[in-house]
Amino acid sequence: MGKIIAITSGKGGSGKTLLTAALGLALAETGKKVCLVDGCFGMRGLDIALGVQDQVVFDLADLCEQDYTMEQVMIKLRGGEAYLVAAPQWEPEVTDKQLARCLERLKKRFDYVLLDLPVIMQPAARRLVPPADEILLITLPGDAAARNTERAAAMLREWGDVPISLIMNFFYKGLVTSGHVAPPDAIAAYLDIPLAGIVPFSELIYNAAFEGRLLDEYPEKIRAALLRIAQRLDGKAVPLKTYHARRLPWHS
Ligand SMILES: Nc1ncnc2c1ncn2[C@@H]1O[C@H](COP(=O)(O)OP(=O)(O)O)[C@@H](O)[C@H]1O
Ligand SMILES: [Mg+2]
Repeated sequence: MGKIIAITSGKGGSGKTLLTAALGLALAETGKKVCLVDGCFGMRGLDIALGVQDQVVFDLADLCEQDYTMEQVMIKLRGGEAYLVAAPQWEPEVTDKQLARCLERLKKRFDYVLLDLPVIMQPAARRLVPPADEILLITLPGDAAARNTERAAAMLREWGDVPISLIMNFFYKGLVTSGHVAPPDAIAAYLDIPLAGIVPFSELIYNAAFEGRLLDEYPEKIRAALLRIAQRLDGKAVPLKTYHARRLPWHS
């Protein structure tokens, strides 16, 4: 039996789709069987991030309604045992129970099912959080993201008891050393959410979510960070880097 990991955030554009694609490929690279599911109903994008938009014929709604088999709906990705189930182009007419049952079927077949959710305030996030075994909250440096992530975590905790971990994306060390933002471990401690990893900002991958790049086309620093996060998701104890601020701007 596999694990469903839902990826969401309090703030839009925080890298959920890019990280779902990249972490899925990173897990596949470590030998895991992975299914990536686009949960952004009406706003699909994970197919583009994976470069398979021309192959999408069926979607999650078709799988849930059991009109088509997994083989017909899933798109095989390059690099390891990894597949994509695309999002429907509109809010699907399936019940929450059907959605949960469908994800349960995928969980039986894969080691990891990664769900690319929209921001927490969107209805699809509310529908897809309950079947998840674990939530990855993606945040960015800065006060606005910290506040929105705090709100998202509070909503998730109201909805259930699923373990949450945090990824700091768009990280830039200079912001911490100059004292403009708090270090990722201090933000994680403030939010009371364990830190699963830190992904640096990279100009080179800015368009990766629109270009279907594979992991080996990423800059080595980013690729290494993603592989470390994949190992942590897989239960390995991989130490986190720590960064020291000249001063803590808002919560010291
Ligand atoms: N670490 C990063 N460095 C540079 N660009 C990034 C990084 N993470 C995400 N991006 C870019 O930010 C934009 C928004 O990312 P996306 O994954 O679409 O966010 P979301 O799904 O949260 O809306 C995309 O252009 C993506 O490639
Ligand atoms: Mg997205």
